[in-house]
Amino acid sequence: MAGTVSDREKTARRLLTSSAEKFYDPEVDIDWDAPWVDGLRFLPDHRVTLFGTETWARLTPEQRLELGKHEAVSMVSYGIYAEAALMHILLRLVTEGDPATPRTRYTLTEIGDECRHSTMFARFIEKTGIRAYRQPRLAARAMKFISLLPIGPASYGLALLIEEILDRGQREVMIDEDVQPHMRMLTRIHVLEEARHITFARSELVASAERLNRLELTINRFVLAIAANLVAVMLIHPGVYKAVGIRPRDGRKLALDNEHYRKTLAFMAEKLIAFFEESGMLKGRVIRALWHRSKLLPKDAR
Ligand SMILES: [Fe+2]
Ligand SMILES: [Fe+2]
Repeated sequence: MAGTVSDREKTARRLLTSSAEKFYDPEVDIDWDAPWVDGLRFLPDHRVTLFGTETWARLTPEQRLELGKHEAVSMVSYGIYAEAALMHILLRLVTEGDPATPRTRYTLTEIGDECRHSTMFARFIEKTGIRAYRQPRLAARAMKFISLLPIGPASYGLALLIEEILDRGQREVMIDEDVQPHMRMLTRIHVLEEARHITFARSELVASAERLNRLELTINRFVLAIAANLVAVMLIHPGVYKAVGIRPRDGRKLALDNEHYRKTLAFMAEKLIAFFEESGMLKGRVIRALWHRSKLLPKDAR
């Protein structure tokens, strides 16, 4: 499945061709000057963290829309930080490897994509008039250590943890006619370009795992399982609940205890989990317990 070095170079070459043929420029491909459409959502209702709770039932339609808008802003704010973290790793691939191979050229292309995506996310946030949800100070500090992580299954796994989870949610949003056109176009652009990033990271993860011994592999799985536990808390900033008069702490607890939201998280992680199962990243009792704790693994998964 991993293939030889030349197979991986071939994949990179194919991705380079596809990147040259199909890409968007969010500055021109999104009509930023067009006003929001009255009554349309920023996220589908059933993907808002409190959907299905009694609290949700008590919210007015306007409040529901407002909460969805704040959650969308939180998610794209997280997207910017996650892409910045990813770019730290990608830049190292460029500096540590042979700079002239198709794989390195594709890595540079991917960095270019992420720069455009983050700019697009930032512009979207600006248009909503809501302040970006900043990452916790500790997470900002931890960013420095990402550069120390050896390039391998954990680093590619981390990339997939971000990209595949957002991808699954965005595929649903981009075709939802109840969602604002700006948001739909933003997700469409992201989905198209991320599909290539996902192919690349999957192929590199498998290849890099094959070069490791058992202990190294276990450490990589462990790092990834820890990172998985940060997704649910990083994706939605607790400050979003203030927009509908709920204390941040209470809102987060409601969301994390919400069965429906747990299903949403498992839905977003479904394809990623299938790939991690297949590539052996979820092996081990402690590792699986950590994945269950992350809420990304469905409750009934063993
Ligand atoms: Fe991206
Ligand atoms: Fe990406």
